[in-house]
Amino acid sequence: MNVLIINGSPKGTKSNSLKLTEAFLQGMKETSTVQSETLTVSKLDIKPCIGCFHCWKETPGKCCISDDMTVVIEKILSADVLIYSFPLYYFGFPSPLKALIDRQLPMVLPFMKSGSHSGAHPSRYDMSDKRYVLISTCGFYTAEGNYDSIDAQFSRHLGEGSYESIYCGQGELFSVPELKNRTEEYLEYVRAAGREFAAGSITKETRSLLSQLIFPRDVFERMADASWGIEPPDQNRVQEKSHPAITFTRQMAALYQKDSWNGKDLILEMHYTDEDKTVQLIMGKDGCKVLTQDFQPFTTRISTPLSVWMSIAKGEIDGQTALMKHLYQVDGDFQLMLHWDDYLGSPSKHDIQQVVPEKKSNMTLMLLPWFPLWFIGITQPVLGGILSILISSTIPVFFFRYQPTVFEVFSGFTTAFLGVLAISGFSPVVLVPVSYLIFGLMWSVTVFLEIPLTAYYSMKEYGGKTALKNPLFIKTNRILTACWGILYLVTPLWTYLFLFSDHKVPLSIINTALPFLLGCFTKWFQKWYPAHYAASKIH
Ligand SMILES: Cc1cc2nc3c(=O)[nH]c(=O)nc-3n(C[C@H](O)[C@H](O)[C@H](O)COP(=O)(O)O)c2cc1C
Repeated sequence: MNVLIINGSPKGTKSNSLKLTEAFLQGMKETSTVQSETLTVSKLDIKPCIGCFHCWKETPGKCCISDDMTVVIEKILSADVLIYSFPLYYFGFPSPLKALIDRQLPMVLPFMKSGSHSGAHPSRYDMSDKRYVLISTCGFYTAEGNYDSIDAQFSRHLGEGSYESIYCGQGELFSVPELKNRTEEYLEYVRAAGREFAAGSITKETRSLLSQLIFPRDVFERMADASWGIEPPDQNRVQEKSHPAITFTRQMAALYQKDSWNGKDLILEMHYTDEDKTVQLIMGKDGCKVLTQDFQPFTTRISTPLSVWMSIAKGEIDGQTALMKHLYQVDGDFQLMLHWDDYLGSPSKHDIQQVVPEKKSNMTLMLLPWFPLWFIGITQPVLGGILSILISSTIPVFFFRYQPTVFEVFSGFTTAFLGVLAISGFSPVVLVPVSYLIFGLMWSVTVFLEIPLTAYYSMKEYGGKTALKNPLFIKTNRILTACWGILYLVTPLWTYLFLFSDHKVPLSIINTALPFLLGCFTKWFQKWYPAHYAASKIH
């Protein structure tokens, strides 16, 4: 299949629209064998039509102007698929592309076509097998209502319903590396459209995804306004260029999701160390204000070189990795950092659509089958064993609601086996310490694995699976898992001694109190350690 792309953006390869077109072509190539060629209109010598009708009268089918248009027509004629890729300019085409379209006059015959509603000329060539696609971005928040004149022209030029179109608002976002996550998602839909087009036609589902807004209108318009890097007009002042740090912070503020407001305004202070510039974001109920002076006491202060923060925003450096390397410093309340995406993250379409939430894991399911062995089994081993077997066999029922982990499965099988031993008369003096030892080993082994045990259970409070990519979260959990592992590796020692000397009540108290205290420590450490780490001076 021969595909000819006519890139009508004066920006050439920097065109936003071309990014969509390339994604579409990529999709086509995934389904079909495609040879493609791109003509960049701005690089071609195509003069405007002078309206002499030479191509109809004196030299039928041939224009009197000698320039690149002769080759363009040849290429159009030999293409199977013609893709027009262009930005919307004043609700129409950029003028060089309009010239290229006007100069297609030699491709039609001068005679009037009968039966057409408002008049038309028949084609000089058989174009019936050709397929056409229009791909365009525009600068307003939506494409809806902005392409009427384009459609009016093309439905006459190519025939009504004889072309596919992908029109996308918020086009300038495709040039913002900081928003790549979100724009990539859109490009994925365009790729899907390309695949479907090559295989037949674009499905209704894909069309509906393509017609959704990339960002909600208010977020987009705030970002767009901030992106120009100039102060809003003020009658008393000459319009000034904003400092890059202020422009950048305003764009960040545009992403503020006011639904995250939880009854108290948060004040995020950004101190750009390389520019010696401070800007505050007041994140309130109705939106986010940016202060460049008259600062208020901050909730959280981030000290960072602007270049580092920009690299993080562009996705060149991972924010958490940068924090681990002390490339920025956080003072004040660290909670804002832990829930950054809730406040200032760019919502992905999945967030907007609220797709099915991830199932959460539940540590109680892992712990429950051990308890009968430890607390009942020391006095009534048979009952403890039976209860352990019963509980471990009912745990899978809860997997409909909770995400199972390998630890529930391991605990289930192990406690059932230990329960059988308890019922068959194994002495609790040995069995209970052994069960603690196995439990302690289960925790301790994971300290040396990529994801330590506690991380599986606490990630739900830190953004779900994405937390597992956060090195500080993993480090915090590695320390905590090690603490728990050590506790349960040494518990068998005194458990054995107490059971051996028949001191069951103090044993139960100690084996309840110590985990309780460590639980309190865990709650505190989970918050303290990341904040403490982040507050250390930047390198
Ligand atoms: C001269 C000019 C006119 C424009 N007119 C419109 C317009 O009428 N409607 C619109 O939504 N965007 C308009 N835009 C914005 C562009 O369509 C938008 O920036 C587009 O994403 C650029 O695409 P490109 O990078 O492929 O050239 C205009 C831009 C320029 C420079």
